Parts: sequence; structure tokens; C-alpha cells
Amino acid sequence: FNVPLPINEPVKGYAPDSPERIELLKTLKEFKQQERDIAMHIGGQEVRTGKLVRMSPPHDHKHTLGHFHRGDASHVQQAIDAALAARTEWAELPWEQRAAIFLKAADLLAGPYRARLNAATMLGQSKNAFQAEIDAACEFIDFLRFNVHYMSELYKQQPASSPGMWNRLEHRPLEGFIFALTPFNFTAIAGNLPTSAAMLGNVIVWKPADTQIYSAQVLMELFKEAGVPDGVINLVYVDGPTAGNVIFQHPDFAGIHFTGSTGVFQHIWKTIGENISKYKTYPRIVGETGGKDFIVAHKSAKAKAVAVGISRGAFEYQGQKCSAASRVYLPSNLADEILGYVKEDLASFKMGDVEDLSNFINAVIDEKSFDKLAKYLDAAKADSSVEIIAGGGYDKSKGYFIEPTVIVTKDPKYVTMCEELFGPVVTVYVYEADKFEETLEVVDQTSPYALTGAVFSQDRYAIDLATRKLVQAAGNFYINDKPTGAVVGQQPFGGARASGTNDKAGSILNLLRWVSPRTIKETF
Ligand code: SER
Repeated sequence: FNVPLPINEPVKGYAPDSPERIELLKTLKEFKQQERDIAMHIGGQEVRTGKLVRMSPPHDHKHTLGHFHRGDASHVQQAIDAALAARTEWAELPWEQRAAIFLKAADLLAGPYRARLNAATMLGQSKNAFQAEIDAACEFIDFLRFNVHYMSELYKQQPASSPGMWNRLEHRPLEGFIFALTPFNFTAIAGNLPTSAAMLGNVIVWKPADTQIYSAQVLMELFKEAGVPDGVINLVYVDGPTAGNVIFQHPDFAGIHFTGSTGVFQHIWKTIGENISKYKTYPRIVGETGGKDFIVAHKSAKAKAVAVGISRGAFEYQGQKCSAASRVYLPSNLADEILGYVKEDLASFKMGDVEDLSNFINAVIDEKSFDKLAKYLDAAKADSSVEIIAGGGYDKSKGYFIEPTVIVTKDPKYVTMCEELFGPVVTVYVYEADKFEETLEVVDQTSPYALTGAVFSQDRYAIDLATRKLVQAAGNFYINDKPTGAVVGQQPFGGARASGTNDKAGSILNLLRWVSPRTIKETF
């Protein structure tokens, strides 16, 4: 039978005195008052090692949210053993039963877990309430519900038969375990990478980024309450090399579902290649990696729309979305007007902690990221060939705060036009308004990445030209809109080139990677 296409989870507004705001503020306060002792989860057991790592909000690094227990290679091995022990029973469970677990998880998250997962995301990852709501609540609810629908569509894909012969496809899960390696910047991605593979009957070893563990443990509580059986999703807190050394040597390693940096992904791919003869099956490698996402405006664009595209697309969540605009190409006839609007917008953005819901900008994720960004800003300040027209300041005395910054360069290959910064810094190049086509070449050739990009124009020929010339430059291409904020079921998300394998998160294309179909021919 068919699971109908769901509707997207409505985004709550958090208006003053609204029930959702009262609940969220109460939960934030409770979370801040209790230091949490955060265990790993292996085979349904909470595992504590006593090797404690302190967790603090990036916007208030002296405050302690709790500690997580650091694991070692033996815990990765235990997680693999627990996953393999759970595998047969889970794989044999009728798919409707698996679907019911994940639909229940979506309902729990839409209800009692919403405030908790949002609050944990706000405090642990320094996201404002709106950004947490569209990520941890709405996007993850959508991933769960849409993936159940896509799973039902996938299982319907069957070959032709004829009288005397019945051919069928059995969509088996992969033979082994899947490694989910998840990032800090979206709680929804951290939730989706293990669950989308698990839904199809696979068993999972899940390693989140250290900086997302605070909300990862709320996700794990949600999975348990929804009824994910012990051992199906195992959560470990180990460093990357420790996990890799055990996982990529294991004969039952059957696939990796990854979001993170291009460098780490390439290293993983090589390691898998080196070990390929050890595995029972060719592992599935699915990854979303870096980006150097662009906005290009044509001389016919609406200046205000481009400005909103820049100030939202580049600075929401401090520019730490893999989809965030970080290089912008403006036509000379509109550049001053657009940048004037952007400066006005930035002047209205308040920066600070997450508990004050009027703050639009919060902190960047950690000191390493802060220091890297500060270095780029120092270099730009010292370089007379570029101008910083907004922001440029930084301060880590209380939290890792970087002002939203706009750099204007005359060199389309200036370092911040090319390198991935992953922060609230955008670089603008102004081109001669009648050189649109040449500029599209530059957009295409400047970066090895191809995740997201946007063109702004009111001229249909220019839109068509950009769509054709930039055919490989972005996996998600936006016309007259910012390049962030893909909605599950509406804009399947992912990039090619150095940005990943482009197995579109939240689509049947992604789910296809987690099955190994068996063709059965039966004659009568
Ligand atoms: N899906 C997110 C966006 O589109 C990025 O991961 O912004």
C-alpha cells in the first residue's frame, strides 16, 4: 500500500506570549540550570567511560551545559557488534512496522520533543529560535515523514511479469552496518543520516560532531521513545581517526552516510579504497561536503531582492550553512544600491546569546572556527586592494562572536572569493554590467565546489543563459531567491563536484542508496 505525500510541518512563529515561546523559554532555562551527564548509547545501554569532555554554549563559553563521556576504539567495536546483533530481526521486520516507528518519532518531535530539541540546538550549536525551529523541528519532522512516503514509493518499484512467471524485486537492506558521520550545523542532518538508512532495515553506528552531541542525545531519547529497537542506532562519542580505524577495517562495513568537510570525505574515500578487498560487499559512499556558494545578479535584477538574498543567504546561522552564499557578483549599474540595502539590513541585525529571541546573529561554533575567521578578517583589513564595507569586528571574551562582514574586492579570484570560510563573511565582486556572460564563466571556474547558487534577474534570456552556463556549478540552483533553506519534499538537496555525491537528501534518490535489491524470478 501507499503512504500518501505528507504536508510540510508548519513553522511556528514564537510571537510574544505564544504558547510555543513560553514553552521554549522555560525549556531553555531548565537546560541551563541542570548540567547534563551525557552517555553514549550502545545496544540500548548507556555507556559511561568517565573520560569527561565539557560542553558549553558557543555564545557563552564559560557556562557549562554538561559533559559527555569520550569513548575509544573498544566502544566503536561494541557499537558495531551491537548493530550486527540487531540486524537480522530489524531487517526482517515488515517495513510498515519500521515506518510506524519513524512516523511516531515525527509526531513526538512535532509535539512534546519540539521545545527540547530546539532548546538543545539553540544552546549547544548557538542557533536562534527561528533557525532552530526550521532545522531541528520542521526539517527533521519533514525528513522522517517524507522518507517514509518515499520508502513506500521505492518498494513499489517492481519489474514486469507475465502469465506463468512472476518477477519481483526484494529491496533488501545492505549486508552489514552503516556508519553515519554527522555535522554540527543542522540537527536535522544529524537526525536524517542515521534514520534514513535505518528506515530501510539497516543498522547504524552513528558518530556526531563533538559540537552537536548536546542535541544528539535528545535525538537519541526521541528515537528510543518512538520505539527504535536496541542496537539499531548506536551513538558513540569518539574522535574521527579512532572511529575510522575500526570501522573501515571491518568486513561488515557496508556504507557511509556523511556530511562534513571535503578533506575528510576524500580521506575516507581513499581509506575505503585501500581496504576494499576486506569488505563482504562494495560499500555505499554517500556524502555532502563543502561549498563556495554564489549569488550572481544580472543588470535587470530587483536591487532589494538581491540585497535580501545576500543578507539572509549569507548570514543566517552565522553563514554556517553548507548552502550559505559566500561569493557575490554584482553588476556595476546596481552594486551601490544593493550594497546600501545590505548595510541597512546588517545594521538592524542584533548579535548576542540565543535566550534573547531578538538576536538574529549568535556565535560561531567554536574557538577553532573563530580563530580561522579572525585570521581572514585581519588579512582583509591589512590588504589595501579590498574594502570591508560592513562588520569586520570579532570578540571571543564571552562567546565566539564574529560580526557579519561584507568584503568588496576588485579581484574575482581574491582569497575569500575562492576559499570556504564557513562563517558570517561574504565577498562581493562588482563586474561591468554588460559583461554578464563572461562573469558566468568566472562564477563557474572560480571554485571546485558545486553545492548551491542563485541568479537574480528579471530578464528571461539572462535567466536562461545563467541556467545553461552554470549547469554544473550548483546542485541546488535558485532563480530570484537566496541559496539557503531547501525544504524537504520541495527542493531535494545536494551538490556535485567537490561538494558531494549529490544523492539528494530527503528524496527517493537518497533512499535508493541504502537498499541492495534482489531480483526473484518464479515460474509456475
Ligand atoms: N538544507 C540546508 C539548506 O538548504 C543546507 O543543508 O539551507
